[in-house]
Amino acid sequence: MKLIVCENYEEMSKEGAKIIAKLLKEKPKCVLGLATGSTPVGMYQELAKMNKAGEISFKDVTSYNLDEYYPLAPEHDQSYRYFMNHNLFDHVDIDKSRTHVPDGLAKDPAAMGKAYDEAIEAAGGIDLQVLGLGPNGHIAFNEPEENLYVGTHLTGLTDSTIEANSRFFASKADVPTQAVTMGIGSIMKAKKIIVLASGKAKHYVIEKMLDDRITTQVPGTILKCHPDVVLLCDKEAYNG
Ligand code: GLP
Repeated sequence: MKLIVCENYEEMSKEGAKIIAKLLKEKPKCVLGLATGSTPVGMYQELAKMNKAGEISFKDVTSYNLDEYYPLAPEHDQSYRYFMNHNLFDHVDIDKSRTHVPDGLAKDPAAMGKAYDEAIEAAGGIDLQVLGLGPNGHIAFNEPEENLYVGTHLTGLTDSTIEANSRFFASKADVPTQAVTMGIGSIMKAKKIIVLASGKAKHYVIEKMLDDRITTQVPGTILKCHPDVVLLCDKEAYNG
Protein backbone atom coordinates (compact mmCIF):
# COMPACT_ATOMS: atom_id res chain seq x y z
CA MET A 1 0.00 0.00 0.00
CA LYS A 2 1.36 3.40 -0.93
CA LEU A 3 0.70 6.07 1.70
CA ILE A 4 0.41 9.76 0.81
CA VAL A 5 -0.07 12.12 3.75
CA CYS A 6 -1.48 15.46 2.61
CA GLU A 7 -1.41 18.76 4.45
CA ASN A 8 -5.21 19.07 4.54
CA TYR A 9 -8.52 18.04 2.96
CA GLU A 10 -8.06 20.32 -0.05
CA GLU A 11 -4.65 18.87 -0.91
CA MET A 12 -5.97 15.32 -0.46
CA SER A 13 -8.86 16.09 -2.82
CA LYS A 14 -6.46 17.48 -5.44
CA GLU A 15 -4.13 14.46 -5.17
CA GLY A 16 -7.08 12.09 -5.61
CA ALA A 17 -8.35 14.05 -8.62
CA LYS A 18 -4.86 13.93 -10.18
CA ILE A 19 -4.81 10.11 -10.01
CA ILE A 20 -8.24 9.87 -11.67
CA ALA A 21 -7.34 12.50 -14.29
CA LYS A 22 -4.21 10.53 -15.21
CA LEU A 23 -6.30 7.42 -15.84
CA LEU A 24 -8.90 9.36 -17.88
CA LYS A 25 -6.10 10.66 -20.12
CA GLU A 26 -4.46 7.25 -20.51
CA LYS A 27 -7.67 5.28 -20.91
CA PRO A 28 -10.67 7.48 -21.84
CA LYS A 29 -12.98 4.42 -21.98
CA CYS A 30 -12.18 3.36 -18.44
CA VAL A 31 -14.45 1.85 -15.79
CA LEU A 32 -14.54 3.81 -12.54
CA GLY A 33 -15.75 2.47 -9.21
CA LEU A 34 -17.18 5.40 -7.29
CA ALA A 35 -17.90 6.12 -3.64
CA THR A 36 -20.22 8.40 -1.70
CA GLY A 37 -19.81 10.01 1.73
CA SER A 38 -18.51 13.48 2.54
CA THR A 39 -14.86 12.50 1.99
CA PRO A 40 -14.77 12.32 -1.85
CA VAL A 41 -16.91 15.47 -2.40
CA GLY A 42 -13.88 17.80 -2.71
CA MET A 43 -12.22 15.42 -5.16
CA TYR A 44 -15.39 15.31 -7.27
CA GLN A 45 -15.42 19.14 -7.29
CA GLU A 46 -11.82 19.15 -8.52
CA LEU A 47 -12.70 16.70 -11.28
CA ALA A 48 -15.67 18.85 -12.32
CA LYS A 49 -13.35 21.89 -12.52
CA MET A 50 -10.84 19.98 -14.66
CA ASN A 51 -13.67 18.78 -16.89
CA LYS A 52 -15.01 22.31 -17.32
CA ALA A 53 -11.50 23.54 -18.17
CA GLY A 54 -11.31 20.90 -20.91
CA GLU A 55 -8.44 19.03 -19.24
CA ILE A 56 -10.32 15.74 -18.87
CA SER A 57 -13.46 14.13 -20.24
CA PHE A 58 -15.86 11.55 -18.84
CA LYS A 59 -17.76 11.06 -22.07
CA ASP A 60 -16.60 7.47 -22.61
CA VAL A 61 -16.46 6.51 -18.94
CA THR A 62 -18.57 3.76 -17.38
CA SER A 63 -19.08 3.88 -13.62
CA TYR A 64 -20.26 1.54 -10.90
CA ASN A 65 -21.02 2.84 -7.44
CA LEU A 66 -20.25 0.87 -4.32
CA ASP A 67 -23.54 0.88 -2.51
CA GLU A 68 -27.07 2.17 -1.93
CA TYR A 69 -29.39 2.30 1.06
CA TYR A 70 -32.15 -0.30 1.09
CA PRO A 71 -34.99 0.19 0.60
CA LEU A 72 -34.60 3.67 -0.86
CA ALA A 73 -35.76 5.11 -4.20
CA PRO A 74 -33.14 6.72 -6.47
CA GLU A 75 -35.15 9.99 -6.35
CA HIS A 76 -34.85 10.20 -2.55
CA ASP A 77 -32.55 13.09 -1.64
CA GLN A 78 -30.51 10.83 0.65
CA SER A 79 -30.07 8.08 -1.92
CA TYR A 80 -26.57 7.52 -3.23
CA ARG A 81 -27.89 7.85 -6.81
CA TYR A 82 -29.09 11.34 -5.91
CA PHE A 83 -25.74 12.07 -4.22
CA MET A 84 -23.78 11.05 -7.32
CA ASN A 85 -25.95 13.09 -9.67
CA HIS A 86 -25.63 16.18 -7.49
CA ASN A 87 -21.97 15.87 -6.54
CA LEU A 88 -20.47 14.66 -9.79
CA PHE A 89 -22.58 13.43 -12.71
CA ASP A 90 -24.57 16.68 -13.20
CA HIS A 91 -21.30 18.65 -13.37
CA VAL A 92 -19.32 16.59 -15.89
CA ASP A 93 -19.82 15.30 -19.44
CA ILE A 94 -20.54 11.71 -18.37
CA ASP A 95 -23.28 9.76 -20.17
CA LYS A 96 -25.64 9.01 -17.25
CA SER A 97 -26.89 5.86 -18.96
CA ARG A 98 -23.44 4.40 -18.33
CA THR A 99 -23.46 5.25 -14.62
CA HIS A 100 -24.63 2.51 -12.28
CA VAL A 101 -25.67 2.41 -8.64
CA PRO A 102 -26.96 -0.78 -6.97
CA ASP A 103 -30.78 -0.85 -7.04
CA GLY A 104 -32.02 0.19 -3.62
CA LEU A 105 -35.50 -1.07 -4.48
CA ALA A 106 -34.54 -4.49 -5.90
CA LYS A 107 -37.25 -7.07 -5.12
CA ASP A 108 -34.62 -9.79 -5.16
CA PRO A 109 -31.41 -8.18 -3.81
CA ALA A 110 -29.40 -11.40 -4.16
CA ALA A 111 -30.22 -11.65 -7.88
CA MET A 112 -29.57 -7.92 -8.32
CA GLY A 113 -26.18 -8.29 -6.58
CA LYS A 114 -25.16 -11.19 -8.78
CA ALA A 115 -26.19 -9.29 -11.92
CA TYR A 116 -24.32 -6.18 -10.70
CA ASP A 117 -21.06 -8.11 -10.27
CA GLU A 118 -21.54 -9.81 -13.64
CA ALA A 119 -22.14 -6.45 -15.33
CA ILE A 120 -18.87 -5.11 -13.87
CA GLU A 121 -17.00 -8.14 -15.21
CA ALA A 122 -18.68 -7.79 -18.61
CA ALA A 123 -17.61 -4.12 -18.73
CA GLY A 124 -14.00 -5.31 -18.36
CA GLY A 125 -13.70 -4.90 -14.59
CA ILE A 126 -13.07 -1.75 -12.58
CA ASP A 127 -9.91 0.11 -13.59
CA LEU A 128 -9.90 2.41 -10.59
CA GLN A 129 -11.98 2.09 -7.44
CA VAL A 130 -12.46 5.09 -5.14
CA LEU A 131 -13.06 4.24 -1.49
CA GLY A 132 -13.75 6.09 1.72
CA LEU A 133 -13.47 4.53 5.17
CA GLY A 134 -16.21 4.38 7.77
CA PRO A 135 -15.07 5.50 11.24
CA ASN A 136 -15.44 1.81 12.19
CA GLY A 137 -13.29 0.71 9.25
CA HIS A 138 -16.09 -0.30 6.92
CA ILE A 139 -15.54 -0.09 3.16
CA ALA A 140 -18.67 0.54 1.09
CA PHE A 141 -21.19 -0.97 3.53
CA ASN A 142 -19.10 -4.01 4.47
CA GLU A 143 -19.42 -3.61 8.22
CA PRO A 144 -17.11 -5.19 10.85
CA GLU A 145 -18.21 -8.83 11.17
CA GLU A 146 -16.71 -12.27 11.60
CA ASN A 147 -17.70 -13.23 8.06
CA LEU A 148 -17.57 -10.83 5.14
CA TYR A 149 -19.27 -11.29 1.79
CA VAL A 150 -17.42 -11.66 -1.50
CA GLY A 151 -20.08 -10.35 -3.89
CA THR A 152 -22.67 -7.55 -3.97
CA HIS A 153 -25.30 -8.29 -1.34
CA LEU A 154 -27.93 -6.97 1.04
CA THR A 155 -26.57 -6.13 4.49
CA GLY A 156 -27.66 -4.73 7.83
CA LEU A 157 -26.02 -1.54 9.07
CA THR A 158 -24.38 -1.30 12.49
CA ASP A 159 -25.75 1.13 15.01
CA SER A 160 -22.54 3.19 14.82
CA THR A 161 -22.93 3.60 11.04
CA ILE A 162 -26.60 4.55 11.38
CA GLU A 163 -25.53 7.09 14.00
CA ALA A 164 -22.64 8.44 11.86
CA ASN A 165 -24.83 8.77 8.75
CA SER A 166 -27.82 10.23 10.60
CA ARG A 167 -26.23 13.68 10.14
CA PHE A 168 -27.59 13.66 6.59
CA PHE A 169 -31.14 12.64 7.54
CA ALA A 170 -33.88 14.50 9.44
CA SER A 171 -33.46 12.07 12.34
CA LYS A 172 -31.70 8.82 13.21
CA ALA A 173 -35.02 7.00 12.81
CA ASP A 174 -35.08 8.01 9.14
CA VAL A 175 -31.77 6.27 8.31
CA PRO A 176 -32.40 2.95 6.55
CA THR A 177 -31.12 0.01 8.58
CA GLN A 178 -30.05 -1.94 5.50
CA ALA A 179 -28.10 -1.36 2.31
CA VAL A 180 -27.03 -3.15 -0.84
CA THR A 181 -23.27 -3.07 -1.20
CA MET A 182 -20.45 -4.44 -3.30
CA GLY A 183 -18.71 -7.20 -1.39
CA ILE A 184 -15.05 -7.39 -0.48
CA GLY A 185 -14.41 -9.55 -3.56
CA SER A 186 -16.14 -7.07 -5.90
CA ILE A 187 -13.87 -4.33 -4.49
CA MET A 188 -10.64 -6.37 -4.45
CA LYS A 189 -11.06 -7.22 -8.15
CA ALA A 190 -10.49 -3.56 -9.09
CA LYS A 191 -7.16 -3.06 -10.85
CA LYS A 192 -6.25 -0.02 -8.77
CA ILE A 193 -7.78 1.40 -5.59
CA ILE A 194 -7.51 4.82 -4.01
CA VAL A 195 -8.64 5.21 -0.42
CA LEU A 196 -9.40 8.68 0.94
CA ALA A 197 -9.52 9.56 4.64
CA SER A 198 -9.77 12.95 6.27
CA GLY A 199 -10.11 14.23 9.82
CA LYS A 200 -9.44 12.95 13.34
CA ALA A 201 -12.48 10.64 13.28
CA LYS A 202 -10.60 8.42 10.81
CA HIS A 203 -7.37 8.18 12.85
CA TYR A 204 -8.34 4.88 14.50
CA VAL A 205 -8.88 3.25 11.09
CA ILE A 206 -5.71 4.78 9.59
CA GLU A 207 -3.66 3.24 12.41
CA LYS A 208 -5.22 -0.15 11.64
CA MET A 209 -4.59 0.35 7.91
CA LEU A 210 -0.89 0.91 8.54
CA ASP A 211 0.00 -1.99 10.82
CA ASP A 212 0.90 -5.44 9.50
CA ARG A 213 -2.36 -7.25 10.25
CA ILE A 214 -5.72 -7.76 8.63
CA THR A 215 -9.00 -8.31 10.43
CA THR A 216 -12.61 -8.62 9.32
CA GLN A 217 -13.40 -6.40 12.30
CA VAL A 218 -11.82 -3.51 10.35
CA PRO A 219 -12.77 -4.44 6.78
CA GLY A 220 -10.52 -1.76 5.22
CA THR A 221 -7.45 -3.68 6.44
CA ILE A 222 -8.13 -6.39 3.84
CA LEU A 223 -7.00 -3.88 1.19
CA LYS A 224 -3.43 -4.59 2.38
CA CYS A 225 -3.65 -7.78 0.27
CA HIS A 226 -4.33 -5.78 -2.90
CA PRO A 227 -1.29 -5.10 -5.12
CA ASP A 228 -2.12 -1.49 -6.08
CA VAL A 229 -3.65 0.64 -3.34
CA VAL A 230 -2.93 4.32 -2.71
CA LEU A 231 -4.02 5.53 0.72
CA LEU A 232 -4.48 9.29 0.67
CA CYS A 233 -5.07 10.89 4.02
CA ASP A 234 -4.68 14.31 5.54
CA LYS A 235 -2.50 15.13 8.56
CA GLU A 236 -5.47 15.07 10.94
CA ALA A 237 -6.38 11.52 9.97
CA TYR A 238 -2.72 10.47 10.08
CA ASN A 239 -1.73 12.10 13.37
CA GLY A 240 -5.05 11.95 15.19
C1 GLP B 1 -20.83 5.57 4.10
C2 GLP B 1 -20.48 4.87 2.78
C3 GLP B 1 -19.01 4.57 2.65
C4 GLP B 1 -18.20 5.77 3.09
C5 GLP B 1 -18.47 6.06 4.53
C6 GLP B 1 -17.66 7.22 5.09
O1 GLP B 1 -21.28 4.75 5.11
N1 GLP B 1 -21.22 3.67 2.60
O2 GLP B 1 -18.73 4.20 1.32
O3 GLP B 1 -16.84 5.52 2.88
O4 GLP B 1 -19.84 6.39 4.66
O5 GLP B 1 -18.32 8.41 4.92
P1 GLP B 1 -17.69 9.85 5.11
O6 GLP B 1 -16.83 10.05 3.93
O7 GLP B 1 -18.87 10.76 5.11
O8 GLP B 1 -16.94 9.82 6.38
